[in-house]
Amino acid sequence: MKQNFNFLILILFFAINLYSSQKMNNEEYDKFMLGRSFFTIPWVEAPSATTARDGLGPLFNANTCIGCHPNNARGTLYSKSNRASKSLIPKLSIDSNNTNLHQSILENQGLIPEPIYGEQIAISSINDVPYEAKVNIDFEKIKLYFDDEEHFIYKPKYTLTNLNYGSLHKTTNITYRLAPTLYGMGLIDEIDENSILENVDENDSNNDGISGKANFVYSKITQKKELGRYTYKASVAFLKEQVANAAFNDMGLSTSLNQGENCTEFQIECNEAPKARDEIDITD
Ligand code: HEC
Repeated sequence: MKQNFNFLILILFFAINLYSSQKMNNEEYDKFMLGRSFFTIPWVEAPSATTARDGLGPLFNANTCIGCHPNNARGTLYSKSNRASKSLIPKLSIDSNNTNLHQSILENQGLIPEPIYGEQIAISSINDVPYEAKVNIDFEKIKLYFDDEEHFIYKPKYTLTNLNYGSLHKTTNITYRLAPTLYGMGLIDEIDENSILENVDENDSNNDGISGKANFVYSKITQKKELGRYTYKASVAFLKEQVANAAFNDMGLSTSLNQGENCTEFQIECNEAPKARDEIDITD
């Protein structure tokens, strides 16, 4: 029986391989391999002999995409040395003070970044630029009873240590996000918008236990509000835009969508750090 089962798996494996190899022609395969190399090969800081791969930082969280999405999948909470893993990103925002400025930032960005640190904490940096902070994880032990038996669960409590640019704004909200699995992200880009909107059921009025609403967000690509599809709160509309945001926010790499360096005006060393020779680190 078990042998039959193994045989079946083997057949399935070959069938899938045959199917997927037929899906890509040579040109597409080359494109795929190029894309994969961008995902896996480390970026280096400028100036460097390898100008095609420089531009990392000045502030960053990791030097490859795969460093946070191991095997294209979900990140781990801990690194091998038992520290908080780089896959865990602290996102920052402050409360709106209802001024016109804050209103317009909210319209375009969906949140108001922390004034000194920006919208994300960078745990790493290039030479001579201080990193922003480190993440610490503690656990709260919670006792509960299940079937009359005593059990313990552990609730993670995240804190920021070594805040190198001073304290955070007093209304700062911090959320910690773990790098999610990326399988099928390209397919999500292709789902027809109406199919998503048909499933909107904010108050679970069909009683299937699932509720969901559509999030409309400003897109830098079309420069108008679009249906959000990516990140934990569907705050990014298109895959291309999310990849550009990942490159910029997580690795400090500029693209046509996010130009310049990812430093706030208060981060002097970051603004004065050596620049890559090419103005845009990753071309379209
Ligand atoms: C420092 C860690 C880190 C690096 C480096 C990183 N990511 Fe991510 N990635 C994350 C986290 C965390 C999220 C979730 C973000 C959120 O919800 O706000 C995410 C989300 C995504 C998503 C959206 C997934 C979804 O379900 O909507 C895509 C696509 C993605 N990353 C692609 C990339 C690509 C491509 C690169 C390299 C250019 C990259 N990431 C580099 C941590 C990282």
